[in-house]
Amino acid sequence: MTDTFDLSLKSANKISDKLPKELQNPQIGIVCGSGLGGLANALKAEPQVTIEYKDIPGFKVSTVAGHAGKLVVGLLGEKNVPVVCMVGRFHFYEGYDIQDTVFPIRVFSQIGIKTVILTNAAGGLNQDFKVGDIMLINDHINLPGLAGNNPLRGPNDEKFGVRFLPLSDAYDHDLRRAVYDIAKKQGVTRGIHEGTYAFVSGPTYESRAEARMLSTIGADAVGMSTVPEVIVARHCGIKVLALSLITNVVVLKKPDSALNDNAAKLDEGIADHSEVMEEGQRAADDLVGIVTDLVNVV
Ligand code: 6GU
Repeated sequence: MTDTFDLSLKSANKISDKLPKELQNPQIGIVCGSGLGGLANALKAEPQVTIEYKDIPGFKVSTVAGHAGKLVVGLLGEKNVPVVCMVGRFHFYEGYDIQDTVFPIRVFSQIGIKTVILTNAAGGLNQDFKVGDIMLINDHINLPGLAGNNPLRGPNDEKFGVRFLPLSDAYDHDLRRAVYDIAKKQGVTRGIHEGTYAFVSGPTYESRAEARMLSTIGADAVGMSTVPEVIVARHCGIKVLALSLITNVVVLKKPDSALNDNAAKLDEGIADHSEVMEEGQRAADDLVGIVTDLVNVV
């Protein structure tokens, strides 16, 4: 069996070999979430290199509609900072092993990436959140992880990091602060919050009772990605900024009784994938603007 360290090194070398001189040694990796692939369009057109996942050893091929599978390497922002963008990520719900979902982060580490910016679409549990708001993740609840699906489960490879990884400092304070400063400077009007992201395996959206449970245990938003990648990034010593775009507000109210003739319709506020994609498109511009300025101060 090929060892993950060796395979990720091989993939990193394959990627580096395709990069022209101006794009060598990128320090920043960006993972584009559902509908946020537009981030890659903010890269300068030249020089730019696209590498399909199918051409990278160890990468799987993403299956969800709206999730292309490619790495785009290019220059971003005023200072022309080289960045690697993952357009399309691997989700646990697609059936991949949790290890496969985090492999690209290990490749990032082997390339020499020092900071990763992860984006996702999430459901808002915090009743102060509105559709289109941005939540800077400052903590998480890893439900599959607590139940045994932690990406670091298994023999630890010290070449990546430590056996018992602390996560109390996972979400970099300075990067979060920089987002507030940039959003203010740019006059971004959508709400920007900080909070706890609950990672659930999906692919079903949460039931009402599950939503209340998640809210009760302290989650502000819920989604099906990001946390495994955060864990592996921290394991490799990579700094993390994670941003959730709130694409829908989760229904917490118990269903009205079927005996109630004035019952609220059950399909009110129902989560649906097209809504997630549409809101992603609208908010993408603000997020792209923030991330573009952010890479200049990292
Ligand atoms: Cl897990 N739930 C809801 N309601 N919306 C989401 C989501 C989950 N993931 C992305 N958007």
